[in-house]
Amino acid sequence: MTAQVVERTAPAKTILCGEHSVVYGRPAIAVPVSTMRARASVSPSPKGSGLIIKALDLGHELVLRNARQDQPLARMAQLVLESLGSPEPDAVMTLSSDLPVASGMGSGTAISVAAARALSAFLGSELPPETVSALTYEVEKIHHGTPSGIDNTVIAFEQPVYFVRGSPPELFRIHTPFHLLIANSGIAASTRDSVAEVRHRWEAAPSYYGIIFDCIGAIAQAARAAVEQGALQALGVLFNENHELLARMGVSLYQLDRLTSAARAAGALGAKLTGSGQGGNIIALVEPDTLDDVRQALLAAGAIATWHATIGG
Ligand code: MEV
Repeated sequence: MTAQVVERTAPAKTILCGEHSVVYGRPAIAVPVSTMRARASVSPSPKGSGLIIKALDLGHELVLRNARQDQPLARMAQLVLESLGSPEPDAVMTLSSDLPVASGMGSGTAISVAAARALSAFLGSELPPETVSALTYEVEKIHHGTPSGIDNTVIAFEQPVYFVRGSPPELFRIHTPFHLLIANSGIAASTRDSVAEVRHRWEAAPSYYGIIFDCIGAIAQAARAAVEQGALQALGVLFNENHELLARMGVSLYQLDRLTSAARAAGALGAKLTGSGQGGNIIALVEPDTLDDVRQALLAAGAIATWHATIGG
């Protein structure tokens, strides 16, 4: 075991196409947003203190040996220790993040991945992405009930991913880097609630929802091809179509429709909600020369914050 301070980070993510239908076995694609990150540092502490976890943004501090099993950060630490067959170290793990919470950027997942990376590195045995992803999925179940697994996969692998539940993830390449404006509606979104609502609706009308899921799956497949070929106009159209189907699924809101419409009217190639919807963020595909106009339009339409992310390259 090392006695050095160890720091690791993990990126935000955004789902380009396929949220919700991915829970029902249809494909989805997601990319890391490398400029927005969660951070974990682990430093040695006096003998006998055990592992103390400090979540700075949440104002939480917990001692692993006293924590509940369903406390997500404690569970993550426990899973890492079990996976490495390591006893609990005497250490302090400090967590912080740039990511807005409850907005579809994977803030909880990124914290878990950063924590797994830092703790395993501190213990002298850095875990590979497959293992970090699998352990994080266990923690996702506490947060979200029935996660598809796409969030932990894209964040742990930190690469564009084509994801079908139950199949090994396919990592793919971005032909031409592209620009996203991410805009926060300011409405907190609960992935757990949104996924549960879609499930109730699907149970009440399985054929109707099955068709929507199939259409979104086809969009995700086409979007992967567009990203691999650098066909950004086509990708924009697919964003718009995906947003329309998510709205039919009942997970958009007036405020999200307003943001996506404003982005398109200001010159975005396409725009859609991203993540679980019912609040949270939208993404707009923009070209460098329309970026400022689209940003202004989003702020005028009610966005409380925007971020520019270059994807690929
Ligand atoms: C949440 O980021 C994406 C959803 O599709 C849920 C999931 O895939 O677990 C809404």
